[in-house]
Parts: sequence; C-alpha cells; structure tokens
Amino acid sequence: MTSLTTSANDDPIARFEALLEEANRIPRDVLPEPTAFALGTVNEEGQPSVRIVLLKGVDARGFVFYTNYESRKGRELLASKRSAMCFHWQLMETQVRVEGVVEQVTASEADAYFASRARGSQLGAWASLQSRVMASPAELDARLAEVEARFTDRAVARPPYWSGFRVIPDRIEFWKGMPSRLHVRNVYTRRGASWATERLYP
Ligand SMILES: Cc1cc2nc3c(=O)[nH]c(=O)nc-3n(C[C@H](O)[C@H](O)[C@H](O)COP(=O)(O)O)c2cc1C
Repeated sequence: MTSLTTSANDDPIARFEALLEEANRIPRDVLPEPTAFALGTVNEEGQPSVRIVLLKGVDARGFVFYTNYESRKGRELLASKRSAMCFHWQLMETQVRVEGVVEQVTASEADAYFASRARGSQLGAWASLQSRVMASPAELDARLAEVEARFTDRAVARPPYWSGFRVIPDRIEFWKGMPSRLHVRNVYTRRGASWATERLYP
C-alpha cells in the first residue's frame, strides 16, 4: 500500500517555499492573495471551524500568521494548541495541507510585523473586537474615532491582544492534480529532526 522511508534531504518546508514562490510569481490580477489559506481550529466541544487567513512567514520553525488573540480562532488556538492549514493554488493544481501544534510568536516578532502594516490596519486592530457581537455599526465608528484621537501624531502601538501564531508542522501533505483524478499525494510526517515520506492513494 504505502511505503515508509526516511530521508533527511527531503525537506517539505523547502518544497512549500518553492510552491509559494511560484504562486507569488502569478500576476495579482489573476491571483490576488497567493498567501491565503484556510485555517482550521477546534473548540472545547470538538466543533471544528475554518476561515481564510494570510500567511506572513514560513521557515524551518513553521508557518506564521497574525490575528486577534481574543477572536474565536485566537481563543480556540490558545486553548487547544493545535491547528490545520490548507492552501489551494488552483492555477497550479496544487493543494498543501499542514497540521501541527501552535505557539505564540515573540513580542518583538509581532511588534516588527505590526509596525510594517498600513496605519489604517493598525488602527483597525484597536477598533475591532474581532468575532464579538456588534450592537450597531455606530459602535465600530465610535471605537475607530476614539483610537484615531488617541494616536494622533504618533505611531500606533500594537494592541496587547493582537499578535501572531506559528504552526509547527508535524504533518504536511502535497497534492498535485493529475489526469483521470489519479492525483499525486505526498505526505511528510515529522520524525525528530527529519521527515518520513509516504505516498497516499488519491
Ligand atoms: C482573503 C482574506 C484574508 C484574511 N486574512 C486574515 C488574517 O490574516 N488574519 C485574521 O485575523 N483574519 C483574516 N481574515 C478574516 C478571517 O477570515 C475571519 O473572518 C476573522 O479572522 C474572524 O475569524 P474568527 O471569528 O474565526 O476568529 C481574512 C479574510 C479573507 C477573506
């Protein structure tokens, strides 16, 4: 059925980076958000939920994205410590699925990324009570006006509840579309410092 072999040279992070580069080379009017992926989380009752998020970094340590820690996903990730990600680049007939444990990025990492964001997005991070019920649109307008006044003529500080998560992968699957739906699926499973690879039926 499937054969299990371990190869220290077969690096799924490098393979992912090459695909992301390929996606990034596609013009933005064709592929506006090459870093977009579906992020899966699970609550205490075992109910999964999924939403689109943007990848902001990837290296040997894992996959980084930013959000509000008090949002639904933020609370679920802080509690369960586990997540799943799914990238789909349709034009490349490619899907990548990642599963793993999440950790919080460091404050300095989050500060650096927050500082790079547009001022409007920085103010929005303060104004939005992400995932909580809004009594009326006027409430959001009032919150935005308040933070605009608070940060007039000065840099917008990072809100304490706004930061990043790093998914430390223990399983990465690459799916490549093939004729007659005989797609190629390569799964990498972490084995200490290296990765075991298996081929799955499509
Ligand atoms: C293209 C796209 C990119 C998005 N990027 C992010 C992101 O990087 N971070 C984020 O918190 N929400 C992002 N969102 C919004 C989320 O999909 C979601 O609505 C929000 O984070 C609240 O989710 P939650 O209630 O499950 O926590 C994005 C949505 C879209 C459609």
